[in-house]
This record gives sequence, structure tokens and C-alpha cells, in this order.
Amino acid sequence: PVTAVVIVAAGSGDRLGYGMPKARVPLGSDAILTHALRGVAAAGVARQICVALPPGDAVLQELCAAFAEELRAGHDANQQNPLPVLTTVDGGATRAASVRSALAALLDGTEAVLVHDAARALTPEYVFHRVVDSLAAGAVAVIPAVPVVDTVKMVTPTTGDDSSIAPELVTGTAPREELRSVQTPQGFRLSTLIQAHQAAADFDGKQAAAVTDDAMLVELLGVPVHAVHGSTQSLKITTPLDLIIAEGLLEGPLG
Ligand code: C5P
Repeated sequence: PVTAVVIVAAGSGDRLGYGMPKARVPLGSDAILTHALRGVAAAGVARQICVALPPGDAVLQELCAAFAEELRAGHDANQQNPLPVLTTVDGGATRAASVRSALAALLDGTEAVLVHDAARALTPEYVFHRVVDSLAAGAVAVIPAVPVVDTVKMVTPTTGDDSSIAPELVTGTAPREELRSVQTPQGFRLSTLIQAHQAAADFDGKQAAAVTDDAMLVELLGVPVHAVHGSTQSLKITTPLDLIIAEGLLEGPLG
């Protein structure tokens, strides 16, 4: 399918504590967003790459322009994959709003879209290929996922006397063999993702805050979502510890 990749890079990065949008934070000698762009371009699956940026961020706009130049300079006209078009849009107040801005800027004729977090800057190429291959084979929605290593429990804040013992009460344990940690890029037939996001555009603040990925909106439509194996290298750089791990991966990937 004719495929676009949306990179959402409009988050604040507050949890990383760098005092700048996360996409700008240095990882090795380049910004996190540059690594993400290189990964997407190297996978060679996109006719268009559309990046949602923090509105008015001239530094990141310049970074995207410099990357477009890097792509043009490195592109061989005889190459099988055409040079992707690089587009930027203003992101929104939530991740889903950033995705909606980007979906509105995709080229006519786009059939499939991969939505990717800039924060998953070191995602290996083969993860993109697994998602695209699954879409090509007929899947409508595909997400990369890895098994969960921790035991996952449900908790509620305690009230009354119990709170003097501990602040939270355990209410249940999820069966670990059925759980997956979900990553990006998440791939969809474009028309399905647009429909899913239209349904979510009217969510109230609490509902909107509960939307943490695109696939859950597609699940609400009753459309089957399939999972392919992701990679532990696709970690989402969120905290200072993640940045240390990502720096380590740059030194020498796990293979
Ligand atoms: O904050 P969160 O973990 O949901 O961020 C995941 C990705 O979504 C990040 O790459 C971030 O830049 C992006 N995002 C966005 N617009 C927002 C919030 C997050 O593009 N308003």
C-alpha cells in the first residue's frame, strides 16, 4: 500500500527534565528527532513522512529542513525507493490531536499510515517492515508488541485506616502470559484510522487523557487489531534512565 509515516514529536518532554521539548534533546551527537527521522527513512517504507512539532518551534522546523536536505543529498536516483516527501504540521494539546493534525496533511492517494513516536528514536528497521508486511497481507490495524517482564497488578488508592499501612490497595493480578507492552510504529489502513480519530475528536478531557495509543481508538470501532513482534530496542525515551539506556544502545546495538 502507498504508505505515509506520521512522527508525533510535539510532546513537552517534562518527564525527561531537560527544559526543552523531548524531540530536541541530544542523544549521542544528534537530537532525538533526527534519530527517529533517520530510522524511518532507512526503513524505506514511506512515500511521505509527516512530523507533528510543538507549534512555533523554529529549532525543530530547522532540524526537519536540514534532514530533508540530508535525504536529498544521500538519495540515489537509481534507488528502488523514491525520495520521501517530508512535511511538518503543528501538533496539538494531546498526542491524539497531534496525530489528527498530521492525518489532515497526508498526500492524496495515501492508503496506509504508520504512526510513530519520535521518542522511540532507535526502533530497528525490521519492526517497520513487519508492520508494513502485515498491512500488505491484508491486516487493517497492526501494532508491534513485546512480552511483559513485570507482573502487572491493578490497584486503587486506599481510604480510611488502610492508608496508614500503605497508600494503595491491590485489587487483582493480570495474567502475564496474555499481556503485551505495545510500541510504535502502529500501522493502519488510512480510512480506518481517520474514522477512529474522528470518533475521538469530541472526547471530554478525562476520556481524551485516557487515550494512550492509536490502536485503542481503532479497537473501539470493533475493528480487529493484530500484533507483530516488536523490539526491546524500540524503548520509549521518557525518563533520564531511558536516555542512559538509549546512549548505551547507540554505542553498540544488542543485535
Ligand atoms: O507523552 P507521551 O508519552 O504520550 O508521548 C508519546 C509521543 O507523542 C512523543 O513522541 C510525543 O512527542 C508525542 N506527543 C505529541 N503531542 C502531544 C503529546 C505527545 O506529538 N501533545
